[in-house]
Order: sequence, then structure tokens, then C-alpha cells
Amino acid sequence: MTGGHLRIVVCGAGPATDVAQLVTAAQERSWTTAVTATPSALDFIEPEALETLTGHPVRSTYRSSPSTGRCLPATDALIIAPATYNSINKAALGLADNYALTSVAELIGRRVPTVIVPFVNAALAARAPFRHAVASLRDEGVRVLLGAEDQWEPHPPGSGNERQRAFPWLVAFTTAVRLAAESRSAAASQPRS
Ligand SMILES: Cc1cc2nc3c(=O)[nH]c(=O)nc-3n(C[C@H](O)[C@H](O)[C@H](O)COP(=O)(O)O)c2cc1C
Repeated sequence: MTGGHLRIVVCGAGPATDVAQLVTAAQERSWTTAVTATPSALDFIEPEALETLTGHPVRSTYRSSPSTGRCLPATDALIIAPATYNSINKAALGLADNYALTSVAELIGRRVPTVIVPFVNAALAARAPFRHAVASLRDEGVRVLLGAEDQWEPHPPGSGNERQRAFPWLVAFTTAVRLAAESRSAAASQPRS
């Protein structure tokens, strides 16, 4: 039995290299996964290895091929991790200038439970556009894991390599599972029309 289907969107930051940790954590709890990558993220990941692990194509463009043409299962939860300064700002504005961000825009619009785990340094996180973007995404119901309460703070500039090892893959997954369960029970308690 599957727990659900998780869509993972990876952006171009160091922890993308370790996204298999999230795939494995999900699989151990009977979730299926598919990875979507921004064009920049392709420099950080090994698409073939992830395709073997997930059983689904790693999509990063609209181009379909014999392997990418296959439909993905319906999505029960979305995790954007690592989420870059660039993609967080764009997602908050609703920009959809690549396949990954178009998917994000649509899945958030469909009210799919969404967790974002930023990987940004403190200088970028201090910028007004970023702070507004986080607030705006939270306003839309997106769970952004950032701040003292989430025990996930922006790192000092230049310290990304050390911080990468602490990237909270498991917290992201357990948060997404909880949001998906809440969403399912809210849907079940809706009166049928
Ligand atoms: C080696 C390397 C590491 C990077 N690390 C980060 C990072 O930790 N956080 C971040 O926001 N951007 C980081 N960047 C910059 C992003 O890759 C860049 O802003 C890119 O445009 C992001 O594209 P995307 O949001 O579409 O993935 C890094 C770039 C390189 C080349």
C-alpha cells in the first residue's frame, strides 16, 4: 500500500546533491516520489540515478521524450527543497518561466499541501524581496520551514558547505505527510454536493 505520491522540486543549491535522502525517507514510509528539477539544479543532481531510484523521469523541461512522456501519478504533497533565493522569489510572484516553476504554480493553485525548505545565506534572506516572498507564500497556505521555530535559520555567507549536511530532509517529509493527512481529513469532512 502506498502512503501517497510526493513531488519533489529541486533548485540549484548544494543540498540538491543529497535529494536521494528525501526519496529514500519517503520510500521507507511507502510513499512514491518523482523529482522535477529547475534547469540550474541539473548541475547538482544525477538524473539517471534518481530515475532508477524513483522509477519516474526527472523532468526539467516541457520537452517530452519516450521516457519523460509518461504521466506522473496524482500528487498528494509537494516539497520544494532545496529552494533557492531565486525560485522562492519567483514562486511567490507566480512566475512560471521554467517547467519546475510552472508545476509549482499549478500545484499550489490546486491546494496541494506544499512544503518549502529554503537554502539561502543570511545576506540573501535579509533582502526585502525574500522576506516578502516568504510571507506571501505563507499567506497562501504554503509551509515554509524557516526561522527559529523551525530550527532552520539562514547560514552565514560562505558557510553553505557545512550547513548542507544539516539540511532537514526528514523534517520536510514528516511535515508534508502531516499536511497531506490534514488535507485528506478536511476533504473527507466536506459535505458532498
Ligand atoms: C555552486 C553553486 C552553489 C549555489 N548555492 C546556492 C544556494 O545555496 N542558495 C541559493 O539561493 N542559490 C545558490 N546558487 C545560485 C543559484 O544556483 C542561482 O541563483 C540559480 O539562478 C538558481 O536557479 P533556480 O532557482 O532556477 O534553481 C548557487 C550556485 C552555484 C553555482
